[in-house]
Amino acid sequence: MNILALESSCDETAAAVVKDGRGVLSNCIASQADEHRLYGGVVPEIASRRHTEAISAITRQALEDAHVTLRDIDAIAVTHAPGLIGALLVGVNFAKGLASAANLPLVPVHHLRSHIAANYAAHPDLKPPFLCLVVSGGHSHIVRVEDYTTFKVIGRTRDDAAGECFDKAARAMGMPYPGGVHLDKAAQKGDPSAFVLPRPHVEGSPYDFSFSGLKTAVINLLHKAEQRGETVDTYDLSASFQHTVCEILTNRFLAAAQMTGDTTLVLAGGVSANSGLRAKTEAMCRENGFRLFVPPLSLCGDNAAMVGAQGYYEYLAGNVAGADLNACATLSIE
Ligand code: KG4
Ligand code: ZN
Repeated sequence: MNILALESSCDETAAAVVKDGRGVLSNCIASQADEHRLYGGVVPEIASRRHTEAISAITRQALEDAHVTLRDIDAIAVTHAPGLIGALLVGVNFAKGLASAANLPLVPVHHLRSHIAANYAAHPDLKPPFLCLVVSGGHSHIVRVEDYTTFKVIGRTRDDAAGECFDKAARAMGMPYPGGVHLDKAAQKGDPSAFVLPRPHVEGSPYDFSFSGLKTAVINLLHKAEQRGETVDTYDLSASFQHTVCEILTNRFLAAAQMTGDTTLVLAGGVSANSGLRAKTEAMCRENGFRLFVPPLSLCGDNAAMVGAQGYYEYLAGNVAGADLNACATLSIE
């Protein structure tokens, strides 16, 4: 079964063709990051406009790269939630029009579910149940994937998402948007024990995260240094920050796995590209005898191949939408 998948939840317009949920026949992305960088973050109005301009061409490109036409497509999958509402609406409306014109089933896909499904496209032997740490620019969840379309949230951030915290700390250090990847590179040249940063706990919730205190600590440290006319070694601060975030994430992930009894662990989302998180999670899994799956770097960030992968399983579960499908800015993964 060939699925044409579309993604427009934030600042990437993406289209892909995926066969039977696992075979990526094409995966095309038009990124707007260069334009949003001028403003230090995503400007929702600009994102919607650029999606509108890019979506037809990127869809055509995905069909061409897969060497198929619409006649070879069996369903259209689209990210309908969560994300920037105006951005999501572009993908949803385009998908609705195309599904109607080509008389194809329309499959709505939850963005975080699709991040998890990026791993299905990369690892043919990965099957639920497993425990997944999904860390992106907008969300940080520990999720038990009971089967392909049944999810149970074990823990979540109470404030900032991990990616948001990376981006804000990076911005405070003068790095361009999106800062996560720049901070990761800087961290590789620094000393992770140079600065002692707070590790906020959420009272009574051993699997939840809180990152806003850590972000504020980095910002305050930089402000104080500036007021005193001192310079901060951004390599050391990046390394200390990354070490702290990754320790918080892997400690909670381990505690959750010990509680659920899961021995198959999975990383997903944009922050799963982080070198420190990958290394720390690998070490934690090795020490505890867990099997770990991580997406290839090409499938960590927003893309449509992951939408096609999850869309296949949503379709098999009968999750098909009508012409009344709407986009939602927020929606639980459950
Ligand atoms: O999943 P994603 O592409 O979009 C959302 O659904 O939010 O995640 C984007 C986030 C951004 O905050 C970005 O800075 C972060 O993932 N990110 C990283 C790295 N690469 C991307 N954060 C830390 N280290 C990285 N190497
Ligand atoms: Zn995402």
